[in-house]
Amino acid sequence: MRSTMGLSWKWTALFSLLGAILCLIGPALAVKEHEFKKCHQAGFCNRNRALADLAASQSSTWVSPYKAVFESPSLEDGKIQGVILKTINAAGDTVRLPVTISFLESGVARLTIDEERRQNKDIELRHGSAARKERYNEAANWSVVGGLEPALKAEIVHQDDSQINVKYGPEGNFEAVIRLSPFRIDFRRDGVSHIELNERGLLNVEHWRPKVERPEGEENTEEDESTWWDETFNGHTDTKPRGPESVALDISFHGYEHVYGIPEHTGPLSLKETRGGEGNYAEPYRMYNADVFEYILDSPMTLYGSIPFMQAHRKDSSVGLLWLNAADTWVDITKVKGSTNPLSLTSGAPKNTQTHWISESGIIDLFVFLGPTPQDITKKYGELTGTTAMPQEFALGYHQCRWNYFSEDDVKDVDRRFDKAHIPYDVIWLDIEYTDEIKYFTWDPHSFTDPITMGKQLDSHGRKLVTIIDPHIKRVDNYPINEQLLALDLAIHDKDGKAYEGSCWPGNSNWIDCFNPKAREWWKGLYKYDQFKGTMENTFIWNDMNEPSVFEGPETTMPKDNLHWDNWEHRDVHNLNGMTYHHSTFEALKSRKKGEYRRPFVLTRAFFSGSQRFGAMWTGDNLADWGHLQTSVTMLINQGISGFPFSGADVAGFFGDPEKDLLARWYQTAAFYPFFRAHAHIDTRRREPYLLGEPYTAIVTAALRLRYSLLPAWYTAFFHANRDGSPILRPMFWTHPSAEGGLAIDDQFFLASTGLLVKPVAEKDKYSADIWIPDDEVYYEYDTYNVAKTEQGKHVTFDAPIDRIPILMRGGHIIPRRDIPRRSSSLMRFDPYTLVVSVSKDGQAEGELYVDDGDSYEYQDGQYIHRQFSLKDDVLSSVDAEGRDTRKIKPGKWLKAMQNVHIDKIIIVGAPASWDREAVQIESDGRAWAAQVVYHAADKDRAAFATVTHVKARVGDDWSIKLA
Ligand code: GLC
Repeated sequence: MRSTMGLSWKWTALFSLLGAILCLIGPALAVKEHEFKKCHQAGFCNRNRALADLAASQSSTWVSPYKAVFESPSLEDGKIQGVILKTINAAGDTVRLPVTISFLESGVARLTIDEERRQNKDIELRHGSAARKERYNEAANWSVVGGLEPALKAEIVHQDDSQINVKYGPEGNFEAVIRLSPFRIDFRRDGVSHIELNERGLLNVEHWRPKVERPEGEENTEEDESTWWDETFNGHTDTKPRGPESVALDISFHGYEHVYGIPEHTGPLSLKETRGGEGNYAEPYRMYNADVFEYILDSPMTLYGSIPFMQAHRKDSSVGLLWLNAADTWVDITKVKGSTNPLSLTSGAPKNTQTHWISESGIIDLFVFLGPTPQDITKKYGELTGTTAMPQEFALGYHQCRWNYFSEDDVKDVDRRFDKAHIPYDVIWLDIEYTDEIKYFTWDPHSFTDPITMGKQLDSHGRKLVTIIDPHIKRVDNYPINEQLLALDLAIHDKDGKAYEGSCWPGNSNWIDCFNPKAREWWKGLYKYDQFKGTMENTFIWNDMNEPSVFEGPETTMPKDNLHWDNWEHRDVHNLNGMTYHHSTFEALKSRKKGEYRRPFVLTRAFFSGSQRFGAMWTGDNLADWGHLQTSVTMLINQGISGFPFSGADVAGFFGDPEKDLLARWYQTAAFYPFFRAHAHIDTRRREPYLLGEPYTAIVTAALRLRYSLLPAWYTAFFHANRDGSPILRPMFWTHPSAEGGLAIDDQFFLASTGLLVKPVAEKDKYSADIWIPDDEVYYEYDTYNVAKTEQGKHVTFDAPIDRIPILMRGGHIIPRRDIPRRSSSLMRFDPYTLVVSVSKDGQAEGELYVDDGDSYEYQDGQYIHRQFSLKDDVLSSVDAEGRDTRKIKPGKWLKAMQNVHIDKIIIVGAPASWDREAVQIESDGRAWAAQVVYHAADKDRAAFATVTHVKARVGDDWSIKLA
């Protein structure tokens, strides 16, 4: 149900009307599955699965033909280097595969396997291809930004003819047992095996071979060559100039029943088995970034982005791996009871999860994380691939988008109507129709004649504009951007070296090749204020269709034999493509004007490991139905534990018109999306919150206000995501790694370290939520302060009529809020704070607040406030969270202004009767003053609580209050 674009908005409106009518009579929306390959339709996937079947059928007699040779093995710079010999025939001929095993200071181990002949460029390409002869080995250049310091203390502790044992890890308790023949590596922690490579003997590096031309009718009788050479799917032929070249490896997680990660998919957080059987998938999880609009739920099909990172967890132990390969990748998952040792009788023992990773091309480049905590894995993964960029503060507010706001007047009107209805929002978005016939960096000459005046209206109450800029560049005359792209030769090439042509929104297009440094430099120039005229300081950018989406292309993307800069084939870099584009825009926004150095905001649809460094992502074209609402929560949780927490889903569904209850529940859920944006297809009815009618407008407004009041907590959560990669929506296994009952729970989460436990209602006609309780701490209902009747490991029922969000406050946390309702986040910048203290069973609580100017990089020079709040021994206090002597920091403009910002109110939930008094003393910087207290004794289910008002403690200062 694509709309025909490149038309004036009037035509578009007509088409949308027609579309709406067609919608009513048309079939239900669903992805065209036949447009995307199944494993058996991708030669390399099929071959590797067949190998797995063969190995399984021969079970004990199957021997992997890979043997490692390390001449006088030694560790230099934490690395062991050698060669793996692959035996390729009965005569014993071998192919040489250089192998490096590196041990890193962080405790991460890395395995790379390449092919010598390809390294030496000693191969011939078919069809006169200009493609590179080497295996693609540059994914790490894009994805990895740190954490590669060698472990100088790693040491070989044992070696003989059959194996080498290396001890490593921060505590020296990790061990890699490298078996030579067949090649295998067993990764152990404290002597126990956790991750094993090639245990099942499925390592496969399809070495280069020449195509033997045979007389017609004569076939290779030794091997099935049918999928080695040119492959055709849905009428598209891939010429595969290097023939078969896949890499594959089996990776076992011993004793682990749950594995998570490898976004983006729509299934459960705890990944399913993929080899058939009841409740399982029959297809492997696929990662091949694609424009899968109208996507289906509970499916291993690929979606728009890929992060080849997997984490396994069992009670008290987490391990993980990163399969750093940007080519088309499939992952099979199977789980087996007990030990994989056939002689073992432990059928009831924990399951082992076996995975099989299959990529079409490139080298094997694998990182192994041995934990033991989920936090360790998150941190190490963040060190390697980078963490969430510190966001623009406004970006955590609410974003109002639709395809499309059709004119300046439309935008200004929406803006006014939000104000009139007292509904907060921060950003209004322009989809493709703002351009002059989908020529990016232009404005429609009839409907957007004066974008600066529009931008100024938004700016007058601190609001922003986001405009879409896609990577396809319309191929027409008199469009300077296209002319420059072609003249400077900055486009992605087809297999014959010409600028690749395909179609997308503007019709016939070319695509910028952001792998090319010159293209990235050129792209930067386009965003300067004097180039992209009509934009101003409050304009930010949306990058869509960057998988890349090509409407008539194979699997709605580019041919794999297209060529990028430096002649790497598209096949090798496909999953990186979107990230390079996102990255280029991010850099461009940093250089819009000399001397202006502000944080960019760029939304992307396609992503890969490392994209978190450049902005937010969203889950693409979802549907306005209950299933998509449910799935969004799981998908965003999975993004978070895969290093990319700045994520959202279209509220309240992109395709279709949501019923009002669904819309209300969607806003309530999205108030807890890290990226909170309403968006809708051009064919849908308008659904801005002020249009809904009561009680829905009030319900949605309340959800938005809740979001805004918690912005200080959200910003603090992002600060942590930036510092150490930590997820913002935290699943139970991450916060409570010992609580076995929570390992598969994926419909509730903690909001960062706030102790807020949220379980959105995502079912029709459901007016309660059963929240699973991970520990024996006290939990209060967020809005009533009622003590929930919880029991560790059991569900508690939370009443949730349509106007109520199930949120519990775990005892022991202090949450910063701002309670004055405003129209945008920037109008709240200097508002006073409220602290909500939820007292734990043993009378304590802790919390944090991080705040900076929300826009610049001055925080890097200490221009921020970072407080640690604690309640202990009846004293509530605030100190600098990093132990800085804040008086020594020379305040800049923003920090100075913050000296007048106070903590105004403190609400203490679960306050003991001994705190029943009318006033308390506040001490700060040698001064003392009194603040009022109103104490409410416990009442039926409601906990006792105390409200301290007129606190007047400066938010940046140390202070303490004696409560008893
Ligand atoms: C794609 C995007 C969608 C956008 C549309 C038009 O379908 O996923 O969000 O509205 O393109 O730009």
